[in-house]
Amino acid sequence: MQKPTEILTSEHKNILKVIDAMLAKCGELESGAETDKDFFVKAVDFIKNYADRFHHAKEEDILFREMRAAQDKLHCSPMDQMLFEHEEGRKFVKNLEDALVKEDRKDIEENARGYANLLQDHIYKEDNILYLIADEALKEDVQIKMMEEFAQMEELEFNEKDWE
Ligand SMILES: [Fe+2]
Ligand SMILES: [Fe+2]
Repeated sequence: MQKPTEILTSEHKNILKVIDAMLAKCGELESGAETDKDFFVKAVDFIKNYADRFHHAKEEDILFREMRAAQDKLHCSPMDQMLFEHEEGRKFVKNLEDALVKEDRKDIEENARGYANLLQDHIYKEDNILYLIADEALKEDVQIKMMEEFAQMEELEFNEKDWE
């Protein structure tokens, strides 16, 4: 059976692809290129709809809920820190949107880099710590129920081709 955390890890790969593209654009900005506003607008749209609304919703509404329910099997409770980092990410995205409206190059670069670095670190922690804890703590019937709930959330289409 495919585990819920395997789905989440494969979604991380899509998010990291966009983050890499964002960092490359930041490098171009730093070396004096014109601001590619269309790119950043598209990246913000991806982050809000896919990374936040789609992926983080699965974590916050389904995974963290089940991890809390299995709290007695956890040696630590990393969910609050993960939630805090999701919130920090939302702040960078909000500031990035404001910077795009103002066409403020410095703020665009700063907030895009801030988001990218935060999420790279966040994803590393989830893939290598949080999800391993979840795999061990969550019973098989709970994981099967989670897979059904994930499937219900999957009406949103993500086109990987857009980011190759
Ligand atoms: Fe997360
Ligand atoms: Fe995640």
